[in-house]
Formats: sequence, C-alpha cells, structure tokens
Amino acid sequence: MKLAFITGITGQDGSYLAELLIEKGYKVYGIVRRTSLLYSYSRLDHIRDKIHLEYGDMSDGSSLTNYITSIINNNDNFEVFEIYNLAAQSHVQISFEIPEYTSLIDGIGTLKLLESIRTFKKDIQDKIRFYQAGTSEMYGAVLETPQKETTPFNPQSPYACAKVYSHFLVKNYREGYGMFTCNGILFNHESPRRGANFVTMKIVNGVKKIVEQEKENINDYILTLGNIDSKRDWGHSKDYVYGMWLMLQQDKPDDYVLATGHTYSVREFIEKSFSMKGFEIEWNGEGINEVGIDKRTQRILVKIDEKYFRPCEVDLLLGDATKAETDLGWERKYDLDKLIVDMFD
Ligand code: NAP
Ligand code: GDD
Repeated sequence: MKLAFITGITGQDGSYLAELLIEKGYKVYGIVRRTSLLYSYSRLDHIRDKIHLEYGDMSDGSSLTNYITSIINNNDNFEVFEIYNLAAQSHVQISFEIPEYTSLIDGIGTLKLLESIRTFKKDIQDKIRFYQAGTSEMYGAVLETPQKETTPFNPQSPYACAKVYSHFLVKNYREGYGMFTCNGILFNHESPRRGANFVTMKIVNGVKKIVEQEKENINDYILTLGNIDSKRDWGHSKDYVYGMWLMLQQDKPDDYVLATGHTYSVREFIEKSFSMKGFEIEWNGEGINEVGIDKRTQRILVKIDEKYFRPCEVDLLLGDATKAETDLGWERKYDLDKLIVDMFD
C-alpha cells in the first residue's frame, strides 16, 4: 500500500498532484484550513470522494504530527509514505505585506513537518519520503543565467527568504539524519486552476472580460498591471507535479530544477493572450504612463498602476532542467501557447 500526504492539497499544484497519485493507486491524505476559500475546495470537487481530508494548518505543529501519526497507525504494513509539502503563502507581493506570517508558514512550517517525521523510529522513517516545494524565486536577482541546481540563491522577498530557509533545512535533514528529503526548485507554472491574483490568470481573465464586454457593446474595463517587463519561465502545473512525483521515486534523494528553458516577458504574455482572441496590442507611452491599445479601435485595453510594483523585483528567470530531464526522464507536454489555450478553455 502506498500512502501520500499533501499539504496545500486545495491549491493549484495540490489538486493536480492528488489526481496523479489517485491514478497511481495511492491512498491520498490532505489538510484543509478552516478558513480555506470555497473556490479552493472546488479544485477538489471531482475527486472529493477519493481523498481523505482533515482540518490542519502549517502553523499548528501538533496537529500535523497527530495527523501523520494517525495515517501511519491506520495503515499497517504500508510500503511507502510520501509527504509533499506544498502549503504556502505563495504570493510574492503579499509576502511583503505579511512577512511574519509568510515566514511562519513557508519556513517554520517546513521545520515542523521535518521534526514530526524525525520523531518516528528508524524502520518507519525509512519508509517516509519528503518533497519540499522550492522555487525559482530563491535565485532572485540572478547570479547566473540560465539558473540550475548549482546557481547560488539571492532571494528578493520575504517569500523567497522563507523558501531558502526551507531548502537548506531539507538538505540538513537529509545529510544530518539520513532522511529521504528532496527539494524541487520549480520555475513558474500555471494552469486553469491558477489563483486569480497571479499575473497569468489575471491577464487571461482580463482578456476574457474584454471579449465578453465587446459582445455587449460595453467598453469600460481596462486590465491594470504592474511591471510588465519582468521575464518568467512559465510551464504547466500538470507537467510539474509529475516531476515532483518522479523525484520521490529515485533510489537516492536529491534536489532538482524543473523549468521549460524558455523565458518570456509579462508584456509578451499579454500580447500572446490578446492575439489568441483576435486583438493586436500597440504600446504607447513610458513607465507608469504606458498603455496597451487595441490597434483596430484605438481603445485602451491595458494600463499600469504602481500599486502592483514590488519593493524588490525579480527581473529574469530562465531555468535549466537538464538534470531532471537526464536523471528523472522528466518531459513536458505543454509549451507556452498550449498553456495559454488551456487557461482560456
Ligand atoms: P497555491 O495555489 O497558492 O496553493 C497554496 C496551498 O497552500 C493552498 O492549498 C493553501 O490553502 C495552502 N496553505 C496556505 N497557507 C496555509 C496554512 N497556513 N496551512 C495549511 N495550508 C496552507 O500554490 P501553488 O501554485 O499550488 O504552489 C504550490 C507550492 O509550490 C507552494 O508552496 C508554492 O510556494 C510553490 N511553488 C509554486 C510555483 C508556481 O509557479 N505555482 C513555483 C515554485 C514553487 P488554502 O486553499 O486554504 O488557501
Ligand atoms: N501578481 C501580479 N499581479 N504580478 C504582476 C502584475 C499584477 O498585476 N503586474 C505585473 N506583474 C509581474 C510581477 O511583478 C512579476 O514580475 C511577474 O508579473 C509574475 O508575478 P506572479 O504571477 O505574481 O508570479 P511570481 O513570479 O511573482 O511568483 C510565482 O512564481 C514563483 C516561481 O518563480 C508564484 O507562484 C510563487 O509562489 C512561485 O514561487
């Protein structure tokens, strides 16, 4: 019997990972917060009867330990127990507004999980494998391009600092206690289940709204964004959760970058998204006065608001996933165009 416990199961990646593990025959457990939004649960509606959910929170260490212990006690003779730590306050800009909370959940939360695994006897511990949801944000103001496993970290936000802390804890527990712990270093990945306040989903929803409004002869909506010149390496969440699973199937634990090896600016993402719906965008003006105009009607469709600028920005992310491709046999099914089409559909 294979067991899996996913923190962050109500999130974008958690929901896809749960689907994958069910398909592979795992018994899947997860925690949900008392305060989880209804829309998060809706990501799990279609598999709700196939997973086991309990209330829990990354700030509450004893509940995590109790839950992990009860999963182990209720499943005698399990073959392997995979723990995927995906829970996080995952929004970079919001981490500047709630830095303490972000550090508690994204940093100390990881410590609580690792410590609870460490309390088990060696025979049980040897059957537990741990995945940590690390991020390309840890590279921050990048010191090398493309970024790979050996590239030094240079984090630029409380979110990224907390994730760096978790990354090194995971390495410490692997090296110090011989635990099977892996760090994924995942570049941006999106999907139709992406949260609405991340830039790709905000753009896709904005374009959809403009298309809908045109049908009704209304034209008061303008898509309002921050820095549109940063560049990201965007993949699809489905491809990335498969990579997480592969990391835990290896003989030895290690750290791996997952990325597409292509980078695009937010501006290019906007242009591509509008063009898929028949709009050609022309840019006028500079800085916060820049606007994106519909070439056909000369109507303003995009504008800039500095409230979306961050105190520190990550200008360029571009990953090199050679190690994951070579050692794990990881492959992607989606490129950027296919991803955007999926998000629209
Ligand atoms: P997401 O959609 O924001 O999901 C975050 C999950 O964490 C949700 O299930 C959320 O629960 C849960 N959570 C938040 N605070 C919690 C707390 N205090 N206790 C328990 N659960 C809590 O994020 P995602 O895009 O799926 O990303 C998954 C993980 O990968 C995150 O750790 C993220 O930092 C990391 N990551 C993401 C990317 C990316 O591009 N997507 C790239 C690299 C790394 P609610 O539903 O209750 O809010
Ligand atoms: N969210 C958002 N909203 N971002 C905007 C906006 C806006 O209105 N306008 C411009 N941007 C820019 C941001 O400044 C950033 O440079 C880029 O769009 C991407 O922002 P997000 O989509 O919020 O993602 P992120 O790159 O900051 O973080 C995501 O990827 C990380 C992996 O690199 C998150 O999923 C993190 O959790 C993840 O670790």
